[in-house]
Amino acid sequence: MCGIVGYIGKKSASPILISGLKKLEYRGYDSAGICLQTAAGLELVKNKGRISQLEKDLAVRDFSQSRIGIAHTRWATHGEPSVINSHPHFDCLGQIAIVHNGIIENYQALKELLVKEGHKIVSETDSEIVAHLIEKFHQGDIEKALRRALQLLIGAYGLAVLSQKEEKIIVARKGSPLVIGLGKDEILVASDVPAILAHTKKVIYLSDGEIGILTAGGYQIKNSAGQILDKKIEEIKWTVDQIEKKGYKHFMLKEIFEQPQSIANTLAGRIKNHQAKLSLKTDLKKINRIIISACGTSWHSALIGKHLLESIAQIKTEVDYASEFRYRDPLLYQDDLLIVISQSGETADTLAALRQAKSKGIETLGVVNVVGSSISREVDSGIYLHAGPEIGVASTKAFTSQVAALTLLSLYFTQQKKLVVDKKIISQLANLPEKISQALALAPVIKKIAEQFKDSRNFLYLGRGFNFPVALEGALKLKEISYIHAEGYPAAEIKHGPIALIDKNMPVVFLASKNNLSAKIVSNIEEVKARQGIIIALANKGDKIIAKLADYLIEVPDSLPQLSPIINVVPLQLLAYYIADSKGLDVDKPRNLAKSVTVE
Ligand code: M6R
Repeated sequence: MCGIVGYIGKKSASPILISGLKKLEYRGYDSAGICLQTAAGLELVKNKGRISQLEKDLAVRDFSQSRIGIAHTRWATHGEPSVINSHPHFDCLGQIAIVHNGIIENYQALKELLVKEGHKIVSETDSEIVAHLIEKFHQGDIEKALRRALQLLIGAYGLAVLSQKEEKIIVARKGSPLVIGLGKDEILVASDVPAILAHTKKVIYLSDGEIGILTAGGYQIKNSAGQILDKKIEEIKWTVDQIEKKGYKHFMLKEIFEQPQSIANTLAGRIKNHQAKLSLKTDLKKINRIIISACGTSWHSALIGKHLLESIAQIKTEVDYASEFRYRDPLLYQDDLLIVISQSGETADTLAALRQAKSKGIETLGVVNVVGSSISREVDSGIYLHAGPEIGVASTKAFTSQVAALTLLSLYFTQQKKLVVDKKIISQLANLPEKISQALALAPVIKKIAEQFKDSRNFLYLGRGFNFPVALEGALKLKEISYIHAEGYPAAEIKHGPIALIDKNMPVVFLASKNNLSAKIVSNIEEVKARQGIIIALANKGDKIIAKLADYLIEVPDSLPQLSPIINVVPLQLLAYYIADSKGLDVDKPRNLAKSVTVE
């Protein structure tokens, strides 16, 4: 949800800011802008549309001498995507510029107050009022003015502020991520690490309530009371190489094909002598119930996690959308464990669910990909996915790594409870990268199938047991990148309504790999076939019954049912990808979406 970059140093700021913005474009891409401090004052260039447009607009001006600037790529919350609503925003005199990620909830009241006082507010955004509030309190010291402005704000913000008169960038955080990169004679700030990775791997994560004062010569981090803090400098492990497309047409395709490696990374060092090895602070023996809270794709992996934890570790597990959990005042007990799952570690609802459980004294555990993210820092203990940066807006490799991590956790839990561990699960888990490679080899077959369905208007995805969440995930992948309406259902449920949708134009994807419900799935396929639905079936090699029933067959590698979601989702990711690509859509930047949802 919006990306911020700032630069102060000895180099020309504009190209650094633009390349940083490009790395953050996954956070929002409906408009972009940049503000540079120059000898003539603050210069603003902004436009509707992609960063490539902004780059063209900048190319006709010479800002090569400017060494300080802030920039923004937007995902609209308040006000349509337009030039006027895009960031940076100015105060009345054009001497203070701000970029903002988050939502100012009380902006209407503040706007009325500012307008009464004579401020000229030109955009429909919640963000612009911040520039005017700073102006209102400004008496020569931009930091002091920002502090006073922040006292009035209700909501979430990652803010970077630039003044015409001071050679510094001031940043502030509450709820929206900000990371400060410490380079040689230069300092960067950004909403996420990829924007600064080409310049430095030394970073400081700003926490809520903190303010950073960045100058070419150094930095200070202060708490809300104005005291200087001695923050830990952390070293980023990601490489620049990992955030490039490396010859793939899209990041999503690259990330799908990275899955043998990303799963191997999730498992690395965590399986030894037929045992799952995790170092968790949580004493799992004390836990009687688990609640898993997450959003989107991470919520789908939570549903699989429930099956795994209940069937392998015999522990009662509930799953809740984070957006519901946080406002429902759920009944919690002291022997509960809340697990939050998040690729980004910044999803606003998931973070709020975590904070709510913590406020009630409940033990928490995170399953997170991005190291140093807010969720990873606030949980009591956690499992990092080590899946590497996921840039494509549609989550792929994070999902399979999440499910692998939850399998490890279930096995670890079983060991802690001194229950018998199924050695077959452990050995097949270790063998997953090989199975994923086999599933990826299906790409040419799936591409051909995809071409047949690029003009379909609707899709149904049906699965049972461990594979019902995979049906949900397959449908989500298709709708978010191809804009084709798709629904996932437990296969038996279609008789209770959705079967009315089936006719000769309805493709129905069946997750029909072998498990204890195989015979039931065959009956469900028959029911759809009897109504002329088009059957696309994922089945194991040699399954003659399904092969006979299917109009299109995708032969997936066999596995234990517990591990089948990780394998079966791969063809569904490819199917969604090839359908969207054959429609000529921008797969990595689907309309209306953003990678990291830091607003509720
Ligand atoms: O970063 P998170 O895992 O917390 O993100 C949760 C969802 O926003 C995310 O999974 C979203 O649904 C993706 N676009 C799915 O592809």
